[in-house]
Amino acid sequence: MKEPGSKDNTYTVDKSGSSALITQSFNVKAEDFAAAGEVSGKIKNLLKQLGVDPALVRRVAIASYEAELNLVIHSWGGQLIFQVDPEKIRIITEDKGPGIPDIELAMKEGYSTASDLARELGFGAGMGLPNIQRCADKLDIRSEVGQGTILEIEFNLAHK
Ligand SMILES: Nc1ncnc2c1ncn2[C@@H]1O[C@H](COP(=O)(O)OP(=O)(O)O)[C@@H](O)[C@H]1O
Ligand SMILES: [Mg+2]
Repeated sequence: MKEPGSKDNTYTVDKSGSSALITQSFNVKAEDFAAAGEVSGKIKNLLKQLGVDPALVRRVAIASYEAELNLVIHSWGGQLIFQVDPEKIRIITEDKGPGIPDIELAMKEGYSTASDLARELGFGAGMGLPNIQRCADKLDIRSEVGQGTILEIEFNLAHK
């Protein structure tokens, strides 16, 4: 199944018996500040349509926005992958870029290496990664300096 009007992302509903029900993958361009937030906006709308609890939609929207913005601001470009299975919502980013030399330092509130341009546009408060951590049930960051960064963010779906 393909989302109408979409060119740069794939949208599949998995009927093969694997547990991922939805996998959607988006390209995020470096320094495309005009488009920044579009991907997380789409994810937010989709989760609303799926009837996900509004508080959880908000947490996923904040985390995916911050992860998307980090690709725009800090990477050379990458992919944001959105997955839903019966247990979890997952946001995964994979980028090519400078990587994060000290992840513990990068997680500190207020720490930012954002460019002057990004700061002029109002980004670079150094709150993105701490916000993702707060919103998520699980956050895993892997990074290789000079190669890129992978973020895996998980949210548990509550079952009644
Ligand atoms: N995808 C990434 N690639 C390289 N560095 C990153 C990436 N994401 C985050 N960082 C590093 O971690 C720092 C903190 O990120 P964050 O908390 O989102 O703050 P901000 O984006 O406002 O700088 C960034 O300034 C940057 O040094
Ligand atoms: Mg950020």
